[in-house]
Amino acid sequence: MDKFLIRGGVPLRGKVEISGAKNSALPCLAATLLTAETVTLHNVPYVKDLITQRRLLEDLGATVLTPELRTHKVNAANVDIFEAPYELVKTMRASVLALGPLLARFGRAKVSLPGGCAIGTRPIDLHLKAFEQLGAHVSLESGDVVATAPQGRLKGAVIDFEKVTVTGTENVMMAASLAEGRTVVKNAAREPEIEDLADLLNKMGARIRGAGTSELEIDGVEALNGAEHTIIADRIETGTFIVAAAITDGELEIRGCRPDHLVAVINKLSEAGVEIEEINPTTLRVRRSRTGLRAVNVTTEPHPDFPTDMQAQFMALMTQAAGESEIVETIFENRFMHASELIRMGADIAISGHTAVVHGPTKLMGAKILASDLRASASLVLVALCAEGETLIDRVYHIDRGYETIVRKLSSLGADITRITGSSAEAEAA
Ligand code: EPZ
Repeated sequence: MDKFLIRGGVPLRGKVEISGAKNSALPCLAATLLTAETVTLHNVPYVKDLITQRRLLEDLGATVLTPELRTHKVNAANVDIFEAPYELVKTMRASVLALGPLLARFGRAKVSLPGGCAIGTRPIDLHLKAFEQLGAHVSLESGDVVATAPQGRLKGAVIDFEKVTVTGTENVMMAASLAEGRTVVKNAAREPEIEDLADLLNKMGARIRGAGTSELEIDGVEALNGAEHTIIADRIETGTFIVAAAITDGELEIRGCRPDHLVAVINKLSEAGVEIEEINPTTLRVRRSRTGLRAVNVTTEPHPDFPTDMQAQFMALMTQAAGESEIVETIFENRFMHASELIRMGADIAISGHTAVVHGPTKLMGAKILASDLRASASLVLVALCAEGETLIDRVYHIDRGYETIVRKLSSLGADITRITGSSAEAEAA
C-alpha cells in the first residue's frame, strides 16, 4: 500500500490546473450505455475510480478507446452483459450508476448491492423505489439488485425523493430518458454534476428540463444518439487547493476551475479569512488574508449549500483558525473519521454526534497517520503540509480515487511530498 511522506512548513506558491470532475465523469461514462452510437468524453480525470468505471463498461461489452489520456470514446453497441459483479461494485459504489442505463436500454440489470463504506451505510433504497415507480420489477437476490422492465420499456412517472440523492437523481434521469412518456422528479439533487449529466444526455437527444433546480421534467424518447462532451472542472479539488493555499500561508493561482460551482465554499472560506480573487471566470488567486484565519461555523447541506465533500478539508483549516468552529455534518452518519488523526497531530477537536467543535489555532506536529476515505485523506494531506516535521500517511489509495496526480501537482507548488510506493497507483501522467 502506498504512503505519502510529507515535510510540512512550506508555503505553496504557483499555478495549479484543476482536473475534470470525478463525480460528473462517473455518471457521464455510465450514460454511454444508453446508446449504440459512439459518445466521446473529454477532460475525464485520470483517477482510480474512472479506471474502475471504464473496466465496468468493458466488462459489459462496451469498447472504450482513449486517443488521449483524458479523452474516452465509448461505444456500447455490443453490450451483451447486463450485470455489475460484486468484485467491482465493492471497490466502487458508483457502479450502481449502471442500473438506470442498463434497465432503460435493455430492460434488465443486475448490480451487486453496494455495501456501506467508511462514511456511512450508503443505502440505495431511493434509487430502487424510483425504478419501481418507473414500472420496473426490482428484487434482491443473494446480495444482487435484479431489475427488469416487464413491458420491455419503462414508463414515465412522478418521482418525489424523500431525501436529496445525487446518484439517485442521476440514475432516474438516465432511466427516464428512454422511458415512455413524461417523468417529473421532485426534490431532485441540484449539484453541478447533475447539470453536466443533463447537458450530455440532451446532446444525445434526451429531453430534460430543469437540471440544477429541485424539479426535473424528462420526456422519454425512443433512442439516444452519440455525442461529444467535455466534463466540468472538479469543484471539490478546487476547494481543496483553496484550502491548501490558506493553510500553508502561500499563494496559488488556480486555473481551469468553475468558481460559480462552489459559491457556498468560497463565501465560507472568505468569512474565515481566505482572500479569494476571481481573475477570470475560470481562474482564482488565493492567499490567507493579512488579518489571518478566523474560526467560522459550517453545516453541510445539499447543493447549493456547503458540500459534505469539503467538510474534512474545512476542518483541517479550522485547526489553524483563531477561535472556536462548530462543524455540523448532516449528510453522512460517520464522516468525522479524519478528526482522530488530526487530534493525533495536536489538533483540538471534540466530536459529539454529528457536530465537531474545533479550537484553534494549534501547532500541529508530524506523525504517522491513516487515511480512511477519499476526502478524509485530502484533509490529512492538508494538515501535513502545515505541520512541523514529517508526516507519513498510509493507505493513500483512498486519495488516488479522486485526486489526479496529486503528488505531482503539490510538488510543482513547492510541497515537500514523496510517494513511498509498492507499485505506484497514481500514474504521474504526462
Ligand atoms: C454522491 O454520493 C457523491 N458520489 C459523494 O461523493 C457525495 O458525498 C454525495 O453525493 C453527497 O453529495 C458520487 O457522486 C459518485 P447521496 P451519493 O445519494 O449519490 C442517503 C466523494 O467523496 N441515501 O446524495 O451516494 C445517503 O445515505 C463521494 O466523491 C439514502 O438514504 O450520495 C446519504 O445520507 C463521497 N437512500 C444521503 O442520502 C438512497 O437511496 C445523500 O446521499 C440514497 C441516498
